Amino acid sequence: MLSFEKLLSKEPKEIKNGIYYFDSHNHGDCFDKEDALEWDNGRLKSSWKNSKFLDTPVTAKLIDTIIAKQDAIIDLACGPGMGLIPSIKQLAPALPCTATDANAMVLEHWKSWLDINQPSSGIGFAQFSILDMPFHDNSIPAFTSYIGLSSTRGGQADYDAAVKEVYRCLAPGGYLYTIESEWMDIPSILQVFKKMNWQPWNIFTEKQTSWHDCFLTAGFEIVSEAVSDCRYFTADDNELGEASCKLQIPVGVKETAFVLRKK
Ligand SMILES: C[S@@+](CC[C@H](N)C(=O)[O-])C[C@H]1O[C@@H](n2cnc3c(N)ncnc32)[C@H](O)[C@@H]1O
Repeated sequence: MLSFEKLLSKEPKEIKNGIYYFDSHNHGDCFDKEDALEWDNGRLKSSWKNSKFLDTPVTAKLIDTIIAKQDAIIDLACGPGMGLIPSIKQLAPALPCTATDANAMVLEHWKSWLDINQPSSGIGFAQFSILDMPFHDNSIPAFTSYIGLSSTRGGQADYDAAVKEVYRCLAPGGYLYTIESEWMDIPSILQVFKKMNWQPWNIFTEKQTSWHDCFLTAGFEIVSEAVSDCRYFTADDNELGEASCKLQIPVGVKETAFVLRKK
């Protein structure tokens, strides 16, 4: 049974091997057998032991805050890293956590791996899309995520829809603890394309809204916000990185840790 079972607004289509399946949409990533092999051959193990968030002051504070304030969390778009759950479990093994993702395969591999390697982890699993969550309005105390909202695949429209859906499901006073990524300084990036005489990639031609503004527009109170990581592209990354180095116009992405409260 999931720790949030009473808050469900619809029945799962199926419950198999302890995983709750809610939809047949294909919103998630299209993982294949090679991905699964990589997960089983070490990726899940290293994700479980990952201490990156605990070793970085901004994200360590985020994890401490979650543990101090919450009795249970639901992690969104958990992916092969399982979002914030491995860090939470390292410090608070008994805190009930539910791992969710639109892609069932990643959940199934996590479940099998944990059953063998961490049989007392007590993690629940549910397959659904962030864009259509099986919860009543105003019901959930806390969601967590690591680049879960940034991972939706429909650009800005999906980012806005995901934030709205999280807001709908949270209880008044409920929290979203998330680390999201975004491009830094898009006007500079567009300069690179212009100077190279390239057509900008689609993601740069649509109107971009910062995560900060998306959260405010949805109605969230931003309790805290701090950049936790930033990275500039180099010639080794791709042709954009190569052009950015040649033109000496930095192109980068940043990750920001947010504590957001539904008013
Ligand atoms: C790069 S991972 C995100 C990082 C992940 N939280 C981690 O810790 O590794 C992308 C994940 O987002 C999931 N995803 C993409 N769109 C989604 C959606 N609409 N709802 C739920 N999960 C989604 C994918 O299936 C994939 O597992």
